[in-house]
Amino acid sequence: MKPRKIKDRIYWMGSVDWDSRLFDSRIPLPVGTSYNAYLIEGSEKTVLLDTVDPPMADELMSQLEGVSRIDYVVSQHAEQDHSGTIPLVLEKYPDAKVISTPKAKGMLIDLLKLSDEIFITVDDGETLSLGDKTLKFIHAPWVHWPETMVTYLEEDKILFSCDFFGSHIATTDLFVTDEGRVYEAAKRYYAEILMPFRGVIKKNLEKLAPYDLEIIAPGHGQVFSNPKFILDAYRDWTLGAPRNTVVLPYVSMHKSTKLMVEHLVAALVEKGVRVELFNLAVTDIGKLAMALIDAATIVVGTPTVLAGPHPYAAYGTFLANALRPKAKFISIIGSYGWGGKTVETLAGMIPNLKVEIIEPVLCKGVPSEDTFNALDDLAVAIAQKHKENNFI
Ligand code: FEO
Repeated sequence: MKPRKIKDRIYWMGSVDWDSRLFDSRIPLPVGTSYNAYLIEGSEKTVLLDTVDPPMADELMSQLEGVSRIDYVVSQHAEQDHSGTIPLVLEKYPDAKVISTPKAKGMLIDLLKLSDEIFITVDDGETLSLGDKTLKFIHAPWVHWPETMVTYLEEDKILFSCDFFGSHIATTDLFVTDEGRVYEAAKRYYAEILMPFRGVIKKNLEKLAPYDLEIIAPGHGQVFSNPKFILDAYRDWTLGAPRNTVVLPYVSMHKSTKLMVEHLVAALVEKGVRVELFNLAVTDIGKLAMALIDAATIVVGTPTVLAGPHPYAAYGTFLANALRPKAKFISIIGSYGWGGKTVETLAGMIPNLKVEIIEPVLCKGVPSEDTFNALDDLAVAIAQKHKENNFI
C-alpha cells in the first residue's frame, strides 16, 4: 500500500498484514494485524515514527522511495514489530539519528546491534522542533515493556501511541469506521498484552488526561478520529469495577467434570450470575483473556490427571495469573479417580491474583447428588459474594 495522508504533511506508512494468525508465537490474530509507521514533515526536519516488523520491511522501504531526507527516526518501543526495520532505514538515511528513551536505547542496541553514537535520548516531556511542527515525548513505561513512550504532535493534536490503544486488525480503512469491531479488537489487544500492567496503564491514562487529543494514531490497527471512544474504553477496562460474571474455563476427559460444569452454570444463572464458559480443549485463548477483563469470579473446572490438574487447566490458570485480571474470587471444581493434588497445585499457581478462594468442589468418579448439592452451595456462595460487593 502507498503512504496515506492523515493531515497536512503527516502520513501513515507501514504494512497491513492480512495473513498472520499468531503473534509472538502465542497470541491469536483472528483477523491479522497492521504495523503502523508515521512520516511527519516539518518545515525544517522530517521524522519517521517507528518502523515495521522485519518481514514487512520491503513495503516500508518502497513507501520511503520518494522521501529524500529523514532527520530522525523516533523509536517509541524497542519490540521488533516496531523497531526491527530501523537498521534498513538507517542504511538508506545514514545521517538520521534515532530518538528514544534512555532505557529503549540500551534495548535497541541489544536487539538490533545499533551503534551508541546514532542515538539521541529524550527525557519525559522533552520537545523537538521540526520547524513548524513540535513533537513532545511522553514517557509511558510498561505499555507493555519498561522503555515505552508516546509522542504528541502539538500543532496537530495527534498522539502517536504505538502499542497503547492498538488493535490487531487488517483492513484498508485508515481511520476507525466501525467502532464496534474496533472495540472488540482493542479489548482483545488490551487483555492479551496490556492487562498485566493495569496499574501503570492507569497512571499513563492519567498522564495523558491534560492533553487535547484530536487523533490517536497507534502502532497497530486503525487511527482514531474520535479518541474519546478508545479512552473511555480503556478507563472502563482499567478502572471499572468487576462485573457480575463468572469466567469458567474447564476441560473434561470422561464427562464427569463437564456434568459438574453444566450443573454449576445452571445454578449460577438461576441465582442471577452471568457465566462465560470456555472449553479449554478448543477455546480461543484471546476470548478467554477478554472475558477475564470484567469477571468478578473465576472457576476452573478440571479432572485430576497425573496426580494434578489437566495440563489445559494448568495453562488456563497460568494465563489468568499472568494477565492479573481484577477478579476477586476463585474456585475449582472437578472429578478425580483415586487422589491427587489438583487444588493445591492450582492454588499455588495464582500468586499474582488478589482473590479469595471459595471452597472448591471435587468429586470421586461421576458426580453424585451430594456433588450437585455442593455445586448449588457454591453457586449460592458466589452470588452472595457478588451481592456483598455490589457486583449484582
Ligand atoms: Fe506491537 Fe510490543 O509490540
